[in-house]
Amino acid sequence: MEDDIKDPKEQVEEEILVTLRPRKLDEYIGQEAIRENLLISLQAAKKRQEPLEHLILYGPPGLGKTTLAHIIANEMQTGIRVTSGPAIERAGDLASILTNLTDGDILFVDEIHRLNRNIEEVLYPAMEDYAIDLVLGKGPSARTMRIDLPKFTLVGATTKVGALSSPLRDRFGHVMRLEFYSEEELEQIIKRAAKILKVEIDKGGLEEIAKRARKTPRIANRLLKRIRDYAEVLHQGKITAEIAKKALDQLKIDSLGLDKNDRCYLECIIDKFSGGPVGIDTIATAISEDRDTVEDVIEPYLLQIGFIDRTRQGRIVTPGGYEHLGRKSAGGQAKLI
Ligand SMILES: Nc1ncnc2c1ncn2[C@@H]1O[C@H](COP(=O)(O)OP(=O)(O)OP(=O)(O)O)[C@@H](O)[C@H]1O
Ligand SMILES: [Mg+2]
Repeated sequence: MEDDIKDPKEQVEEEILVTLRPRKLDEYIGQEAIRENLLISLQAAKKRQEPLEHLILYGPPGLGKTTLAHIIANEMQTGIRVTSGPAIERAGDLASILTNLTDGDILFVDEIHRLNRNIEEVLYPAMEDYAIDLVLGKGPSARTMRIDLPKFTLVGATTKVGALSSPLRDRFGHVMRLEFYSEEELEQIIKRAAKILKVEIDKGGLEEIAKRARKTPRIANRLLKRIRDYAEVLHQGKITAEIAKKALDQLKIDSLGLDKNDRCYLECIIDKFSGGPVGIDTIATAISEDRDTVEDVIEPYLLQIGFIDRTRQGRIVTPGGYEHLGRKSAGGQAKLI
């Protein structure tokens, strides 16, 4: 995914985006249900002077999971230790992270579904009893020693909640699902980001970007930055609907925010597999993408806007998907049953 506006692994740009991250819950736009729940849990935990219950945040990339984890630490006025499932290779790594926490700290584990099963097992007593069992020595003389841990809160983030083992999932007090954002919410997010970046943008410009941001704040912020460059060179820096449109067209992002990868995915199913149903691995191979990218990055938005459907036999393109590409769905309707 070269120069892809929605590539979740684009680290360099992410560092710049960090400054756009809201720091407090009331700066966090949208996700009303989560915000209400969190507000109550945060207040209750503070009142009882206890750590927050362990919680899991899940949803497609760029919807604000990492941002929320930092907000929680900020609101609880505690420290946050950030790590990720694949980064914890051995049980000892996790033990050393856990024993170095302080009371009340947040341990944020990104991509928690990629944690090794044997490491998960270290987590169970840590989450339940704030303790870990270390095995000392080897063979018949081996013995276990229980070490008490500080009272921490585990915040796990994942794009694939279904990939979590059920014993792990059951140990979380809250499982919170992040939703895609409405256009109005995205407009507010872009407006806030424009203010921070000191970019002039009018209502038309906000609407145009919001419409094409795939309901995702990270993409909205990225588009804003790309369009800012364009506006600076060609329009004394001000972003209007017209400038946004021109810039987005040049970036090959269409009226609904689909880029060339999305179109390639849809066209592939239509042209090579007569609209589906076709299995995800077959599609991934056909468009030379890895399965995770197809599943986590491309499909969620296409499902959300109703351009594809998941059936037991595989993915199909819906009549809406055909129509958006200007294609006729030969027999596509029949397959929808
Ligand atoms: N509710 C929000 N209000 C304002 N800005 C937001 C909100 N959610 C996300 N953002 C912006 O979007 C960017 C991406 O969010 P974040 O990194 O938290 O996503 P994520 O869910 O952790 O994604 P990934 O699954 O790829 O790790 C943030 O840097 C922030 O600027
Ligand atoms: Mg993240």
